[in-house]
Amino acid sequence: MSSVFIQWRDEFSVNNETIDEQHKALISALAGLMDAMWAGKGKEELHKVIGFLVDYVEEHFNTEELYMAEIGYPAIDPHKEIHRRFIKHVSDFREKLYSGDVSSDTAINVFFDTWDWLKKHILKEDKMYSEYAKNRK
Ligand SMILES: [Fe+2]
Repeated sequence: MSSVFIQWRDEFSVNNETIDEQHKALISALAGLMDAMWAGKGKEELHKVIGFLVDYVEEHFNTEELYMAEIGYPAIDPHKEIHRRFIKHVSDFREKLYSGDVSSDTAINVFFDTWDWLKKHILKEDKMYSEYAKNRK
């Protein structure tokens, strides 16, 4: 199911190989999470995938924030704030999942929201620092 629509697209590229690779890895992690949910996989599998996702999101945001600082991107603070809010969103979800507090319907909705958020974030906010880096050269 997931592989049909949870996929990297060329339009996601921000012209930075490291960040593009991390976005690809995030997208596969999301696809993995979706597959696990869809297949009705056990809690253990779900916990493993969401655990990876949260850690990886943090690592990825750090990379982006260092890059934005490096290129002197002026709108770095609001971008960092968006990252903080997203980390809170996924960590809260992880906590709920760990405590067994989430129905599979809720989990799937949260998953769709997360995918939607990631796509929009890449296409909007990430593209903004990418454009900035391009124009300053
Ligand atoms: Fe970002």
